[in-house]
Amino acid sequence: MGQISEMNPEYIIKALKKVLIISCMTLFIILSFHYMIYHPQTVKRTTSHSNDASYVRMFKHNKPHSTTARNLSEADAALVQVIKKFSYKPKTGKPKKFHRTPQTAVNMALIRDIFLSKWKESKANFTAFRQELNSYIDSHKYFAASQETVVAGEQLTMAHQDNVSRTVFPDIHERLPKESPFKGKMFPRCAVMGSSGMLSNSHCGEEIDRADYVFRCNIPPMKDFVDDAGSLTNLTTMNIMTIVADRYHLLSTSLMEDKFLRDLQEYSGYLWLPVYGMGSTYSFGLRVFRLLDRLNGTNLKPMMGHPEHFRGVKKLWEKRDLKHRPSTGLYLTTTAIALCDKVDLYGFWPLPRDIDGNEVPYHYYEDKPSPTIMHDFHFEFLKLAQLHEKGIVHIHTGKCKDVEKAEFT
Ligand SMILES: *[C@@H]1O[C@H](CO)[C@@H](O)[C@H](O)[C@H]1NC(C)=O
Ligand SMILES: *[C@@H]1O[C@H](CO)[C@@H](O)[C@H](O)[C@H]1NC(C)=O
Ligand SMILES: *[C@@H]1O[C@H](CO)[C@@H](O)[C@H](O)[C@H]1NC(C)=O
Ligand SMILES: *[C@@H]1O[C@H](CO)[C@@H](O)[C@H](O)[C@H]1NC(C)=O
Ligand SMILES: *[C@@H]1O[C@H](CO)[C@@H](O)[C@H](O)[C@H]1NC(C)=O
Repeated sequence: MGQISEMNPEYIIKALKKVLIISCMTLFIILSFHYMIYHPQTVKRTTSHSNDASYVRMFKHNKPHSTTARNLSEADAALVQVIKKFSYKPKTGKPKKFHRTPQTAVNMALIRDIFLSKWKESKANFTAFRQELNSYIDSHKYFAASQETVVAGEQLTMAHQDNVSRTVFPDIHERLPKESPFKGKMFPRCAVMGSSGMLSNSHCGEEIDRADYVFRCNIPPMKDFVDDAGSLTNLTTMNIMTIVADRYHLLSTSLMEDKFLRDLQEYSGYLWLPVYGMGSTYSFGLRVFRLLDRLNGTNLKPMMGHPEHFRGVKKLWEKRDLKHRPSTGLYLTTTAIALCDKVDLYGFWPLPRDIDGNEVPYHYYEDKPSPTIMHDFHFEFLKLAQLHEKGIVHIHTGKCKDVEKAEFT
């Protein structure tokens, strides 16, 4: 302490000036490089929303986004705050601040009993469950928003916030199909894909690809996991906040937009977006939905979830004592019971150990838990295990084929 107070103040000021100058120069160089990398003159921009200005005037709180790269609007700035609150810094790999819903304790003896018995389908139990679900919501009509279920200019209540609603802009309404593509459809066998590490070395890919309809959660990586997780997709969901905002840096540069659209081309079928999920991510969701116009010409078609459908599914699970928001996996499984005559689940095992006590990796494509967990996955799994026990859904846990044996006999 004494030493510091004896130091010459002029010397300190000089040193500080030097540090300041060097910092400024370094920052300038970094920013110059950043600008050169992210702003190549050749990048084409094809989206433009000439009507945005009039929408802003019509609906004050739903300010659509400027398409100018690197100019975050107020809504984006608010979204940045939301992401910061829940997100982590991937660069350091160190969790910053995250939310973890406490998980219900699971009785492993019970789970063991359920999964040691041979699975037996029960048409009667399946039909009873489907009828109950249908009494809450018509999934064929509402799982995908359409011009039949959404009116231009109407206020839709957000799926996750009963006290927040947002206007359906005319251009968003125009992008919706005339009617839900699931209307009048019933798929014989569906596969719903979870992301549990239980799927690793399962060799279930072929069996999954033989399903009539394959549902996937949150655009999972595909090409390196074909043997275990299959290669076909008929519908994949996409979380606007954790995937688009976080992984693609809020799409704040045209390069990021291009990368995002390019990455999506490994999927086919429908890309399902919960645009009307949360008020805080709504305007960004709109921007993403509009951006997906550029998928025209690829095998992937955008689809918007109807918040009323999620609420119907949520009610059914609230009746079964689920206190937290249903996860995408549970949501898709429930929906599949309405749309398919047989529902096979793969990669559903959120517990840290299998019934023999072996460790189960968190995800089959990465071994780290998500920084944000809004769901009680353990309780949900208990409920799904009960559906498995009753012969309503089939949760596949073991290997689909034993590759080593097949190769050497
Ligand atoms: C950002 O965009 C708004 C209009 O959307 C404009 O008024 C403002 O000047 C822009 N800011 C910068 C830094 O370019
Ligand atoms: C249907 O569910 C009931 C419990 O609700 C169960 O006792 C019964 O065994 C199930 N039926 C079949 C065929 O598994
Ligand atoms: C909606 O309700 C939640 C709690 O139920 C509250 O925290 C939030 O502030 C409310 N939002 C609005 C916009 O009223
Ligand atoms: C599901 O996707 C596969 C592969 O793209 C396709 O062949 C099949 O027709 C799709 N099924 C339905 C019902 O759309
Ligand atoms: C998609 O592209 C086709 C031509 O490739 C065009 O006729 C159609 O209008 C486009 N659809 C939209 C919504 O832009």
